[in-house]
Formats: sequence, C-alpha cells, structure tokens
Amino acid sequence: MNTIQKTDQCMMNAFGRIPLVEAQGKNCTCTDENGKTYIDMGSGIGCNVLGWCNDAWTEAVCGQVRKLQHACNYYYTQPQAEFAEKLCAVTGFSKIFLGNSGAEANECAIKVARKYSSDKYGKNRGTIITLVNSFHGRTMETLAATGQEVFHQYFYPFPTGFAFAKANDLDDLKSKLDGTVCAIMIEMIQGEGGVCALDKDYVQAIAKICEEQDILLIADEVQTGCGRTGTFLAQEQFGVKANITTLAKAIGGGLPIGVCMADEKCAYVITPGTHGSTFGGNPVVCAGGCAVLDQITAPGFLDSVKEKAAYLRGELEKIPEIAGLSGIGMMIGITLKTKDAHDVMLAANDAGLLVLTAKEKLRLLPPLTITKEEMDAGLKILRSVLEA
Ligand SMILES: Cc1ncc(COP(=O)(O)O)c(C=O)c1O
Repeated sequence: MNTIQKTDQCMMNAFGRIPLVEAQGKNCTCTDENGKTYIDMGSGIGCNVLGWCNDAWTEAVCGQVRKLQHACNYYYTQPQAEFAEKLCAVTGFSKIFLGNSGAEANECAIKVARKYSSDKYGKNRGTIITLVNSFHGRTMETLAATGQEVFHQYFYPFPTGFAFAKANDLDDLKSKLDGTVCAIMIEMIQGEGGVCALDKDYVQAIAKICEEQDILLIADEVQTGCGRTGTFLAQEQFGVKANITTLAKAIGGGLPIGVCMADEKCAYVITPGTHGSTFGGNPVVCAGGCAVLDQITAPGFLDSVKEKAAYLRGELEKIPEIAGLSGIGMMIGITLKTKDAHDVMLAANDAGLLVLTAKEKLRLLPPLTITKEEMDAGLKILRSVLEA
C-alpha cells in the first residue's frame, strides 16, 4: 500500500484530504513524494511561519532534542524559561501557560476567566460571550464556544455557559450582558469564518465595556498572532490590550504549541492543581519557539511582512477574477467573482501552488519569510488558474 492508501485505511476520516503527499520543503517551496514542487501559500494553516525547515529553527529544535526531549512540569527547563521570558517581554503580558494546541490555549483562557470571576464574585458569573461566525477549536468546550451552528451537532450534550453576539453589532452584544458574564472572547479577524476583520471601533467599545464592568477580554490570536498581520499581535492594530490572549500555530514554527497569556489582572488565577498539561512547555517545542520569536522580533522583520503583504495584495487586486480582498497583512481572504474557491484551490494544487479556503473565499497564509521570487512564482500560477 502507498502512503495515501495506508492513511485512508488506518486514520479516522476526519479530514477531507487532497491526494498530495508532502515529502520535504525549504522556505516556501515544498516537494511531494514524486518530486513535484509547490509554492506554499498556506504554511500548514499558518503554522510554518518561517517556512519549511528554517535553518535557525531546525538547529534549535535538533540541538534541543539531542539534549533533553521532555521533562515533566514539576521540574524546570531552560528552553521553557527562555521562551516564557521572551514572550512576556515581546507582548507585555505578565504570565503564560503552555499547552499543545489552539483549542487547549482557549480552554486555559476559559478556565482563567471563569476562575477569576469565581474567586472574586462567586458562582453564577461564568458566561462567556463569543461572536457569531467565530472558531475557537475542536474540544467540547471550544466547540461550544464556537459561534457557528454547524459545529454544535452530534456530540450532545454540549457544555453550556456561552452566549453568542453578532459580530460588529454592539447593541446585540450589550443585550447579552445580563450580569452573569465573566468574559468576552473574540478573534480580531475571524479566520475560519472567512477572514473577516472586526471593526476597530467595535473592538474598542468591547474593551471599554470589559474595563468598566470587570469583564475579561479574551483575544483568540491563534491564527492572527505572531506577526501574521504585520504586528506581533493583531490587537495592536485595533488599539486594545486584551486581559487574556491565546496563541498557537505560528508560535511553534511547525511544532505543536498552545499559549495562554494573562495580564497582571489575572496572572495569579491559576494555582497548583487548577490546570496542567503533560507535554505543555516541552523543551524541544520551546527551543523552536525561541527561534521563532528571535526572528519575528528581529529589527525590520515585521516591516518586511507589511511590505510583502502590500505587494501581494497589490498584485492580487490586479487579477480580474478577484472581486475583493479581506483580512490584514499576510492573512488574506480572496473573494472570487465567478469561480468556486474550492475548485480553484484544487486546480492551484495541480498547477503547483498550495492555497487554502475559508468559507466561500480563497485564503492565503504564506510563510512570513516568503521571498519576492516565491511570491511571483505563486502569483503566476494563481493568475493562470483564475484566467483558465
Ligand atoms: C482562531 C482559532 N482558534 C482556535 C483554533 C484551534 O486551534 P487548534 O487546531 O490548534 O486546536 C483555530 C484553528 O484553526 C483558530 O483558527
């Protein structure tokens, strides 16, 4: 049996997979097992932020794996300390908790918010408002938090304690503030929901309500964080600082990680025994995370992301089949005039370009290290597919 047959026979059928076996890659170019090359504008849904097998990241990971691959969290490790210190310094958050995925990061955020409220106000103040069309993960709790009915099927009974407000409708959100709310959780740009950015005014109004009513603002930056939009966190461009922010995907550079960051208000909520993770804060992952942070925060790097995004967006706007672009920076949603995004994604794959979809849009999340040559090569393929 070949790779595809073995996978399909033995793996649960959770993904509508495309018959492409990725074998190896360098920066934005990957090769399948038949030697065919692809320009990667999806970066494994935003995870390979430094591209495939970035030299410094690979060295950090391989160096660490030869020294100490895992330590239980009752002991300390240098890479975990280093990573936490760097991330707190970059973001201004006071403390972090480390897990293994975006959903786990959000689970931690939900627990911090509910415990903050329970410690201070007692029971019955545990509701979290999330937004219609959001996506927060695949665990039972984060599925329940996700504001899309399609994710609220099959797995009954779902956890309760979430209310859903229409994005960009402040009155609707205010109508949900019934005295039981401990937190409001938002994605600055709804990624899986179709790369839809929230209005800046709306986000700022939410932050004001949170401040006034001692409700915690949770920013799910699993997809928007770590330089994706041209600033380290997307919230910087919205002029707010959430009390809790989650990261995953890019911050691991391609290894599994989930980060929940808390500001001074809720930094001490988690106490021994109230949360944990066997693998969270793994030294190999943290060593890679340090390499990611070093590069993303190097002088000029985020400026280069903004420049690349401006170039890519400018070139995309010239393509007649493209009706419009959404998102910010290198998180790009593409609305097509006549073609179906899923069909275009498959045709692009065949032609040697990896792209994603989000709802009815094409979605690009290129590695932030993409070169001008790689952008041009990818654009050439996309143009030819869209003109066909
Ligand atoms: C905004 C957001 N939150 C949470 C998640 C869940 O992350 P993970 O798949 O790592 O659990 C995702 C994944 O796409 C996401 O985009």
